[in-house]
Amino acid sequence: MDYKKLVTDALVKVLDGQIAADKVYQLLEKPKSLELGDYAFPAFPLAKVMHKAPQMIATEIVENINQDGFQKIEAVGPYVNFFLDKSNFSAEILHQVITEGSKYGDQNIGNGGSVPIDMSSPNIAKPMSMGHLRSTVIGNSIAKLLEKTNYEPIKINHLGDWGTQFGKLIEAYKLWGSEEEVKADPINKLLEYYVRFHKEDVDHPELDEEARAWFKKLEDNDEEAVHLWKWFREESLKSFMKIYGVLGVEFDSYNGEAFYNDKMDEVVSMLEEHHLLKESQGAQIVDLEKYNLNPALIKKTDGATLYITRDLAAAIYRKRTYDFAQSLYVVGNEQTNHFKQLKAVLSEMGEDWSDDIHHIPFGLITQGGKKLSTRAGRVILLEEVLDDAVKLAEEQIAAKNPNLKNKEKVADQVGVGAVIFHDLKNERMNNFDFDLEEVVRFEGETGPYVQYSHARAMSILRKANNPEFDSKMKYQLADEDSWEVITKIATFPDIIKRATEEYEPSVVAKYSLHLAKAFNKYYAHTKILVEDENKLARLALVKSVATVLNESLRLLGVQAPEEM
Ligand code: ARG
Repeated sequence: MDYKKLVTDALVKVLDGQIAADKVYQLLEKPKSLELGDYAFPAFPLAKVMHKAPQMIATEIVENINQDGFQKIEAVGPYVNFFLDKSNFSAEILHQVITEGSKYGDQNIGNGGSVPIDMSSPNIAKPMSMGHLRSTVIGNSIAKLLEKTNYEPIKINHLGDWGTQFGKLIEAYKLWGSEEEVKADPINKLLEYYVRFHKEDVDHPELDEEARAWFKKLEDNDEEAVHLWKWFREESLKSFMKIYGVLGVEFDSYNGEAFYNDKMDEVVSMLEEHHLLKESQGAQIVDLEKYNLNPALIKKTDGATLYITRDLAAAIYRKRTYDFAQSLYVVGNEQTNHFKQLKAVLSEMGEDWSDDIHHIPFGLITQGGKKLSTRAGRVILLEEVLDDAVKLAEEQIAAKNPNLKNKEKVADQVGVGAVIFHDLKNERMNNFDFDLEEVVRFEGETGPYVQYSHARAMSILRKANNPEFDSKMKYQLADEDSWEVITKIATFPDIIKRATEEYEPSVVAKYSLHLAKAFNKYYAHTKILVEDENKLARLALVKSVATVLNESLRLLGVQAPEEM
């Protein structure tokens, strides 16, 4: 039931055609505090038409309106405040959540349209950075939101697995590397070779020559070069897979940059056909002055293609393969210009679907307010962060609930969940500071707090011997404390809609914190298990809270242990 519509209908009737229904609907506000009712209608916009003071209009509305379905309707200054009938409203919402379960909040926005999401996309032979973590967890949550709103997400890991750096890596490996070393610790060893290469090529420029030669061999399909490249890719991917396993993230495609090698010529000829390529100092560019953008560099002097050329090929491939409704790129905001250029070039090529491409940017993770920097030693290694978070969670559980069953599993769920939640509770464009102790706290605005609230709801239901709820029963609650929880539960579908349309998982994370807080307040003020005629209704409320918290966490990619 759309309560906003109920209010609108009542107003439209009493105002008798002086204002259109959709206008009334738009004007309705949600008051800041429940004391001002559930909806408020401002009368000022009517003053001109009705030639009356807004206060007067508000009073007249209250005198003449049909109060059916409301607890009360009052005029406060120029506002008309509507209080919903708590008994009916609570019965309806609880009924809905109890019968729909985890499907509560499902809705059709996408009509089944497919949406490739370019996400995570770390670079082979380098450690996965905190930026890649952000892309992974934001992309994963957006995928779940899209599924809930009837889109078909396709998660693509556009691995950085091609480029001249592989020439350097092969050269470095041939000079200083060994198979056993790489096998034992692939990412760190490969990184070490690469860093050493950059140190030594300062005094030995011939190394660069050699590296270029190796990359040329790789491009020409030389057996040894291709073998090494494949091996590095595989070893790196294995270690990335470990992290994805811990985070619980899966991909539908690992087509990285190399996948487009045989698709580059076509892109270049398409650009030629549209007379878009211009020569500039020996390189081939597309001029984007009319978009106020720097030219897109398509081909270097030596004929090598660039990052954007590959992204053009990838965008076209995705359109052909998935016939997408939208195509998303969850990539840090430092690449905003790159994606503007990408869209502009596609649009110049006459590909009108370029409007369906959306860059979903996000801010930086800082430490002590400073940018992370490998050179300054401010690095955060993802694997360490996850390990440490799990250890901290273990300590907290040992202190709070030493007899917990499955302690280790729960510590994993809490530690990893805390890291994911901390990332997602911030609006994605905001930079945020990383402080592990803060992340894993059981109180405050943290993932463990929401998980803990969910576990508390589950434990109340266990204490009540997991009651069966009858879908024909009316579970009515009319007290103030439950009202706050019920109105929060009622907004969940709107929250999902907003989070999806804004590509903003933080909307769900913040919501889950508010719901958890309202529930904990309810729990502190109410004897839920006392035997009276409302006991089952209160338990229906607890069950609904558990359902919605669980579903919120699931949409964020965070697990919800039943006990902790
Ligand atoms: N590998 C790139 C990096 O680490 C991100 C790739 C993003 N995706 C894309 N289609 N350009 O910066």
